[in-house]
Amino acid sequence: MYLNVLPLLLALISGISCHEYYDFDYGFAMYQMSSPNCAPECNCPANYPSAMYCDELKLKTMPIIPPGIKYLYLRNNMIESIEEKAFENVTDLQWLILDNNRLENSKIKGKIFAKLKQLKKLHINYNNLTEVVGPLPKSLDDLQLAYNKITKISPSSFEGLINLTFVNLQHNQLKEDAVSAAFKSLKKLEYLDLSYNQLTKLPSGLPISLLTLYLDNNKISNVPDEYFKRLSALQYLRLSHNQLADSGIPGNSFNVSTLIELDLSYNKLKKIPAVNENLENYYLEVNEIDKFEVKSFCRVLGPLSYSRVKHLRLDGNLLSHSKLPSEIYDCLRVANDITLE
Ligand SMILES: *[C@@H]1O[C@H](CO)[C@@H](O)[C@H](O)[C@H]1NC(C)=O
Ligand SMILES: *[C@@H]1O[C@H](CO)[C@@H](O)[C@H](O)[C@H]1NC(C)=O
Ligand SMILES: *[C@@H]1O[C@H](CO)[C@@H](O)[C@H](O)[C@H]1NC(C)=O
Ligand SMILES: *[C@@H]1O[C@H](CO)[C@@H](O)[C@H](O)[C@H]1NC(C)=O
Repeated sequence: MYLNVLPLLLALISGISCHEYYDFDYGFAMYQMSSPNCAPECNCPANYPSAMYCDELKLKTMPIIPPGIKYLYLRNNMIESIEEKAFENVTDLQWLILDNNRLENSKIKGKIFAKLKQLKKLHINYNNLTEVVGPLPKSLDDLQLAYNKITKISPSSFEGLINLTFVNLQHNQLKEDAVSAAFKSLKKLEYLDLSYNQLTKLPSGLPISLLTLYLDNNKISNVPDEYFKRLSALQYLRLSHNQLADSGIPGNSFNVSTLIELDLSYNKLKKIPAVNENLENYYLEVNEIDKFEVKSFCRVLGPLSYSRVKHLRLDGNLLSHSKLPSEIYDCLRVANDITLE
């Protein structure tokens, strides 16, 4: 969890220099310096007047948003609806952060997001959404709708979003029918988090630009042959806490030369799936593995043919040191730690 929250925090902090963020802590002083046309209940730091902070104010409706605001924070309120004119004065809004409110799709009126032609970040984590909001503006690069009750993505939701690179949909109720083909047109998508949903199959039509794909905590039981070959840039893949067994994994499923990290922990594997020599972190804890075969890591051994695995977790399996073959270190030459129990 922390790993997932961290990028969000960093993203929030990185947009504002540390100095300004720090100043914001001087509550009362800041209030007096709040720029004159700020909504009375909110805070617009004088040295950062294009940001308006309206966090934790028990708001049920949107405050007045004056012209000039580009970064709008409305976290931890009780906002249930957004009227069609809410952003009429700020059509050049760039960040809209609405985490932890009570928004439902039916109470977000009109095409309000599509009209924000400069919008880059839209965060509506921890709300009561049942489908992906939209239409969305083509300028968007970061969409976060985690911790909702989303079951539906309309086929046109992501159409034409050429700059969308980061999508977080973890902790929703998505099944593969809803997801398949939805992301197809996202030519720049690098990060997709679909963990903690209800997928029983890997989604089809994922964009080949993906670097990071999180599918952990679903109900996926098999990997179609060559599935990951298509994703020719993929570096980080999590499939932990699914229902993967040996029979559902064709021989070279995870032998993908770009992969740096692969998490297959908490599944039902009896054998170690073969991986590429370039893989560095391999998580296999809590499976049913009872045999360590060097050929899962190295088909051939030679001066340059060896596994780059640094961290290998095998605890919670049926392995002990005595079951490790002696040639293991000819193959796993750079392993820093191999955890067995
Ligand atoms: C837009 O600005 C005008 C004038 O400053 C204000 O009266 C109006 O309430 C604002 N609209 C919204 C939706 O904030
Ligand atoms: C939103 O979801 C919470 C938690 O599931 C629920 O208690 C609440 O009644 C919902 N609110 C609305 C307005 O539907
Ligand atoms: C996409 O991003 C590029 C580079 O930041 C920018 O020049 C372009 O206008 C963006 N496209 C849209 C549709 O916003
Ligand atoms: C992975 O695939 C490459 C060819 O793409 C092959 O040379 C290598 O032996 C395979 N590795 C394993 C461990 O099967």
